[in-house]
Amino acid sequence: MRDVLPPQSARARRLVDEFARVVEPAGYGELAVPLIEDVGVFSRLGEAGEGVSKEMYEFEDRGGRHVALRPEITAGICRSYAQHRPTPPWKVWSAGPNFRYERPQRGRFRQFDQVDLEVLGVDDPLLDVEVIALGWEFFARLGLRRVRLVVNSLGEPDDRARYVEALAAHLGDRADELAPETRQTLANNPLRVLDSKREQDQAAITAAPTIGDFYSDAAAGHFDQVRRGLDRLGIPYDVDAKLVRGLDYYRRTTFEYLAESLDSAQNAIGGGGRYDGLVEAVGGPPTPGIGLAIGVDRTLIACDDEGVFPLEPTALDAFVVDVTGGLEAAALTSELRAAGLAVDRGFDNRSMKAQMKLANRSGAAVAVIVGDDELAAGSVVVKPMYGDGEQATIPRTELISHLIDQPKVTT
Ligand code: HAM
Repeated sequence: MRDVLPPQSARARRLVDEFARVVEPAGYGELAVPLIEDVGVFSRLGEAGEGVSKEMYEFEDRGGRHVALRPEITAGICRSYAQHRPTPPWKVWSAGPNFRYERPQRGRFRQFDQVDLEVLGVDDPLLDVEVIALGWEFFARLGLRRVRLVVNSLGEPDDRARYVEALAAHLGDRADELAPETRQTLANNPLRVLDSKREQDQAAITAAPTIGDFYSDAAAGHFDQVRRGLDRLGIPYDVDAKLVRGLDYYRRTTFEYLAESLDSAQNAIGGGGRYDGLVEAVGGPPTPGIGLAIGVDRTLIACDDEGVFPLEPTALDAFVVDVTGGLEAAALTSELRAAGLAVDRGFDNRSMKAQMKLANRSGAAVAVIVGDDELAAGSVVVKPMYGDGEQATIPRTELISHLIDQPKVTT
């Protein structure tokens, strides 16, 4: 787990703001769900001992309840829907930290932030298109160019079950070719084998049957509509029949956004899909759902790699240097801030030289200097810190308008 220091932290917040600016005008309202839930809320995320469920931080709280830190946001949103029974369709978005006990590496952390959106109560494939398109639009707004969208359909639960059977039979026949860890995965969850990046497993995976051959008419029709919708919106995508994703609740549409600038192990900057059974699993009525989650930390790494969505240090309008004891600086910063200006100051009654050094380092456009003479005369000295502007002594009463009129400098 990491600390996120300023100014990086402000950039992460701006990213969430940008997400809100994309999804709120599309009818999504912000929902806050708890970071800790009863462990049962997450029971549908993976077969025992597999995938996200094996990475959960679980513990007993002081009341003897078995709880978990959320490894993702979707299940909590479904729990919230089951509890409050809002009128469907329920279009919500959320953001915040998630916890997975994974091996940390670049782009993979044990505490990481996601932005997430979900729609509950609509089965229409054109909603899948809306959800996928909103994620696409978000990445475009950040300025990311090298994002690849991959889509798949896992079919209806029955199709998927027949497929898993055929896949397990195929992989079982070739089990001696597979890595020992992969054989374990095969025993727990054959689909997840398709996710294996191990060289040794690739021949058996390439020769495996593909899900497309198992679609019912309904599933095939749904997937067809999704692709037609994406085509109509001009959103480029690849169909990847082996895209299974790390969570077990999916049916029909699944998708991922891959950042081509990132190395392939951790290149998924977002993903999602349709699910059912989640709302029911937490006591609600049968409810179709679809959503996506985008990894904030990983997306910012992709932005760095592409040189987009840069850090924007807060530009200070002024830095107050007071060598009369500091009380004047207290009054001035308070007045200037009340007028909407961004202002900092020096403390500890340090020397003029030391305070000017701070002013320099602060990146402020000007230093506002108060010495004994200025204090007596009711004036201040305004010294531009950049360019070749002259320093000027002005009446204190004119300071606010003087600063508001000054051209903005960015450092
Ligand atoms: P997910 O694919 O597990 O899906 O996570 C979504 C995104 O979160 C990933 O693409 C990645 O960018 C980021 N992420 C996941 N794990 C980590 C980690 N350990 N460190 C850094 N970033 C990470 C879900 O979470 C589903 N809830 C998505 C969804 C919403 N499906 C339906 N609705």
